[in-house]
Amino acid sequence: MTARRLDAAELELGGGLEVLLVAALEGLAPGGRIEVVSPSRATALELHGWARRAGHRTVGELMPDGGPYAVVVERGPTARVLADPIGPRREPPPLRAGGEFHSADLRDGEPAPGVAGAQRGFTPVRAVAELGAPSFHWALNDRDALWADDVAELAEQATRAQWDASRDVPWAAARDLPDHMERAVAQVMTFIAQNEYAALYVPAAFLPHVNPAYAEVVMWLAGHIHDEARHIEVFTKRALIGGYAGQALASTELSLKTLLEERDFSGAALLLNVLGEGTFLDLLAFVEHHAPDAATRAAAHLAHRDEVRHVHFGISHVRRRMAGDPDQRASLVAAAERRAEKLVEMSGLSPLLGEGLTIMAAGSLQPAELAEGARAVRDLMQTMEDNRIRRLQAAGFDLATSTHLSELHTPNLM
Ligand SMILES: [Fe+2]
Ligand SMILES: [Fe+2]
Repeated sequence: MTARRLDAAELELGGGLEVLLVAALEGLAPGGRIEVVSPSRATALELHGWARRAGHRTVGELMPDGGPYAVVVERGPTARVLADPIGPRREPPPLRAGGEFHSADLRDGEPAPGVAGAQRGFTPVRAVAELGAPSFHWALNDRDALWADDVAELAEQATRAQWDASRDVPWAAARDLPDHMERAVAQVMTFIAQNEYAALYVPAAFLPHVNPAYAEVVMWLAGHIHDEARHIEVFTKRALIGGYAGQALASTELSLKTLLEERDFSGAALLLNVLGEGTFLDLLAFVEHHAPDAATRAAAHLAHRDEVRHVHFGISHVRRRMAGDPDQRASLVAAAERRAEKLVEMSGLSPLLGEGLTIMAAGSLQPAELAEGARAVRDLMQTMEDNRIRRLQAAGFDLATSTHLSELHTPNLM
């Protein structure tokens, strides 16, 4: 068998020659040979040991006085990695306008796998897994139980829409509100911050169970969690910036605890994304509209922008899930009913929250304005209900079921 010649020139082992050798040997079938020529006798002698350690062998040498020296290396039968080959170079994924590589194009139009092996490790999209890795035991291995058609695009939007709760809110504007107004705002902000924790803990609880094959879902959930961390931050800061604190209500805790108890991903998407965050969209719009200061307004506005995305994911996921599996409809309704049963003792909006919202909408403690504020809060409740029904219909429920689910929804709003 003739050997290909490889001129090592001044390269030494440990100084780059091994990289050249590996590249040359990988191009050969087992048994293929290369003749390595070096002006260094020491390098030539070292090649024997290197070849053995790398799973190859040397099958001849030529060591004339004064050099150059030649050693023939024969490729061994073992692969460096216990895996299928990488495969030929393919047409790379497409780029969008401006040279952008979107997450939606990661798979270049191929769908994510319908089912992923529960044992599979952290194998990136298209990567070939080496054998002998430890087994994992993921719980969420079914694409349709996790997916939304626009999940990659939504994760992309989340990255693009990041903001900074320390700098992007004009905090100084919230320093000097009158006492009664500051107390009201602090209570409403505390209530919102309390709920934002649950909005973070729910996706965070699912994330470590998602099969890594669904990179888009992992990225989406991580972005969702990050958004909620900032919501906790911005509303906690707004609660405190005026010098007061609010009450963390027990009824809110009860409601949020039942949200965390939902173990089905689609059930949680319905309860949190569609119903809870959907209802919060209306609450945040109300707070933005009636904010007594620019900091409160900015905080509500920025969080609302993120919530639109979270609600969109929920609607998109639930609609796809029910379309693909008609039995899901009954399971999802049952999830909402189960939760409502745990909350039977709750009735209506917490008085503390209702009062805070009323004062914000009234703008003062003048009787005429308070009456106006109370009406605005009643209108808000109606808007929330109308929009919940509309969103549930967008998610694929008929009007009667949507109305039923909306009525079951927690008086805590989230
Ligand atoms: Fe949030
Ligand atoms: Fe959210």
